[in-house]
Amino acid sequence: MRRDAQGQAVRMASDEAVAAWNHLVSGYLGYRADAPARLKALLAADAEAPMAHVMRGSFAMLAFNRAYVPAAREAASTAARLAASATPREQAHAAALSAWADGALETALSTWRGILAEHPHDVVAFRMHHFLAFWMGRPEEMAASAASVRPAWDASVPAHSAMLGCFAFAAEESGDQVSAERDGRAAIASDPGDLWAAHAVAHVLEMTGREEEGIAWTSALEPHWEGGSQLVHHLWWHRALFHLQRGETETVLALYDRRFRDLASPLVASHADLYIDMQNAASMLWRLRRLGVGAGPRWEELADKAEARAGDILSAFTLPHWMMAFAASGRWEAGCRWLDAAHQAAEGEGAHAELVGQVALPVSQAILEQARGEPARAVALMKPVLGRMHRLGGSHAQQDVLWQVFLDAAVAAGDREAARRALEWSASRFATPPARRAGWASAASWAVAA
Ligand SMILES: [Fe+2]
Repeated sequence: MRRDAQGQAVRMASDEAVAAWNHLVSGYLGYRADAPARLKALLAADAEAPMAHVMRGSFAMLAFNRAYVPAAREAASTAARLAASATPREQAHAAALSAWADGALETALSTWRGILAEHPHDVVAFRMHHFLAFWMGRPEEMAASAASVRPAWDASVPAHSAMLGCFAFAAEESGDQVSAERDGRAAIASDPGDLWAAHAVAHVLEMTGREEEGIAWTSALEPHWEGGSQLVHHLWWHRALFHLQRGETETVLALYDRRFRDLASPLVASHADLYIDMQNAASMLWRLRRLGVGAGPRWEELADKAEARAGDILSAFTLPHWMMAFAASGRWEAGCRWLDAAHQAAEGEGAHAELVGQVALPVSQAILEQARGEPARAVALMKPVLGRMHRLGGSHAQQDVLWQVFLDAAVAAGDREAARRALEWSASRFATPPARRAGWASAASWAVAA
């Protein structure tokens, strides 16, 4: 049995296939845009390698797009068949993918945890778990997983710096900004092109209110982002957040057009409605809109993409963003049709569908109600689910926009108690007090004026 870069036994037909696998894994960990091409190279080297099909199915699932789920299921079934004569670890990977594609997210998470208990150097199991736990709003699981494998890792194991980037982000989302910054900077010192580590530190700088440092950080690292995947767009979105806080809204719009929603860019064109791009775009335009900055036809473009994805609830956190596009472009009927389709999809079994039905849909409905001039209804819809909103996934920095929706509804409805709840959330997460945060300051003075 051959072994990969981290020492895992892999059923692969040749040393060439193992080299292609290692190249694929480093491309996956490094958010390289050519990761799909690396997968093709692996399949060309060994079409019977179970882990190649695990990655094929995982890439389909990572798009959080309902249209790709059948391909993921097919890949899971192929992987399971081929893994029957492979290692238990590879069989477990096939099982995790199968569970993921079937919507059994808890099973997928626990299967990856089981792999890591025996194989703490399995970077693919770790990263899949890290990523899915993040999009399930489980920072505590991300941190627990990081803590469990960390003793097995040091600089002698290939991909150590990529792991440090994950440890950093897990710490950041758990509120441990000091450890996050230490690990993130250590990862960048080892590999300045590590996008996930750059991202983790950008989060630290956002949460600790260090905009100038955030701009300097992203400026210094930007030359290393060539060839990166859509995570580069998200890094530019973070850069725009720093400018937004400084009141530099023209710069924010310029970054929108040139850096994270450039429709002429091949990366945008390749997956024009990718969930992370949609989140970046809608949440930034929404923030600008609240500050009185118009977006012109940009909303229309997003609303068109939203209409084409009616009822796709795979990415719970994206739902409110689709709704922002409908609300801001005045497409009420399309928004209502979207929600009807989503309600139907959420009637399926499973914890994810339940979360969508109980949390994502009320929040999404609230966005339409608030924009339609029904702020009291928006407050009533969101109030009962505020405590679970983080389970939709997304970081504190991303969740911020949902709390801004609630804040606006509370202010418009004259509900100071509700507004204070939003202000308390902001104060508990961000070092900069609401009275000095862009988009929060006027509500902060209103809420204490009574
Ligand atoms: Fe982020």
